[in-house]
Amino acid sequence: MAHEFFMHRCIERAKETQGRVGNGALVWSVLVREGKIIAEAHHRAFGLPHAERSLLDGIEQKISSSDILYVNMEPCCHYGKTPPCTDIIIEKGIKHVVYGMRDPDQRVAGKGIELLKAAGIEAVGPVLLPECERLNRGFVSVRNKGRPWITLKRAQMRDGTTANTGGARLMITSQEQNVWSHTFLRSTHDAILVGVRTVTTDDPVLDARFSSFDYAQDDTQIRYQPSRIVLDPHLRIPMRAKVVSDSHTDRTMIVTSHVANEKCKEALRMRGVRVLEVAMDSDQLDWKDLWRQLITPSNDYHGLTSILVEGGAKTWDIFKKAGMVDEEVILTRCDPS
Ligand SMILES: NC(=O)c1ccc[n+]([C@@H]2O[C@H](COP(=O)([O-])OP(=O)(O)OC[C@H]3O[C@@H](n4cnc5c(N)ncnc54)[C@H](OP(=O)(O)O)[C@@H]3O)[C@@H](O)[C@H]2O)c1
Repeated sequence: MAHEFFMHRCIERAKETQGRVGNGALVWSVLVREGKIIAEAHHRAFGLPHAERSLLDGIEQKISSSDILYVNMEPCCHYGKTPPCTDIIIEKGIKHVVYGMRDPDQRVAGKGIELLKAAGIEAVGPVLLPECERLNRGFVSVRNKGRPWITLKRAQMRDGTTANTGGARLMITSQEQNVWSHTFLRSTHDAILVGVRTVTTDDPVLDARFSSFDYAQDDTQIRYQPSRIVLDPHLRIPMRAKVVSDSHTDRTMIVTSHVANEKCKEALRMRGVRVLEVAMDSDQLDWKDLWRQLITPSNDYHGLTSILVEGGAKTWDIFKKAGMVDEEVILTRCDPS
């Protein structure tokens, strides 16, 4: 039970790193002595030391042979942007490690655990495997399928209607449903994606303003905000649309084609919007190129691992027909009106 208790702590706190680690994993680590947490740390941001290294680098107390290090993902054993976590675990004299799941990255994939065992360290796991895999479903999807985890979200009236035929915005969900979806959907994905017609019709902000999650980060309460993606192969987006003209344009990515209007692309870039030029496969964006560009870090872009597809109907259909949906959530209007 103790193992589950401390692993649960790792999972819950690792959620605080959502949106900060680019295409990396959400990881938290705690060090336990005689049943009490004496130190904890996380993978703070893309390119920074992993959770175990942060924890062990910062600890001033001498490690005791009965101390237990908990971490929700297998410690890495390769040189990436930072040195291997297995090195510092061995150097610092940790004798017991409890891990939540194996790291699906082919450079690790069980080798971290084997290395610890070979160094005489007891490595116990997996512990709370389904919960750990759920937490890092985006990271697992990118490593195993080469694309982000996709959740499709649809709001509908009782008769199944999802939009007004005349083009005016149709308000479907209640405030309670909005709080739920901002908290458990928008705040748990790296990005929200819509088709361009949803922008021209609804002019959405695509943020998590109703979320009830506020994370403590360095003594500051922080509300995580996901990135915003608009699929717009012909660059029809109006320059007055909120997602390209408010004060958060650095969170917006417009996905377009190589042949779309160059002046428009430049104008968007001048506003801080990231413009992705993706190859076209007849009239649709080429999935392989799209995923490659979204998951691969480059310069100041760190990649992503999960996307909430909010619509509209044409975009849902394209994702479903292509088999690009991992999970689907339907919110139905509750009152009879
Ligand atoms: N009820 C809900 O949950 C919900 C949610 C969102 C929106 N809506 C409603 O839905 C309506 C808009 O839906 P819609 O079906 O008309 O349009 P949409 O899905 O918002 O946008 C469709 C357009 O996006 C582009 N697009 C999307 N996926 C693409 C892909 N894989 N490759 C290339 N282009 C792609 C295409 O642009 P091009 O036409 O330029 O090729 C396509 O015509 C609005 O009335 C909005 O209020 C409802």
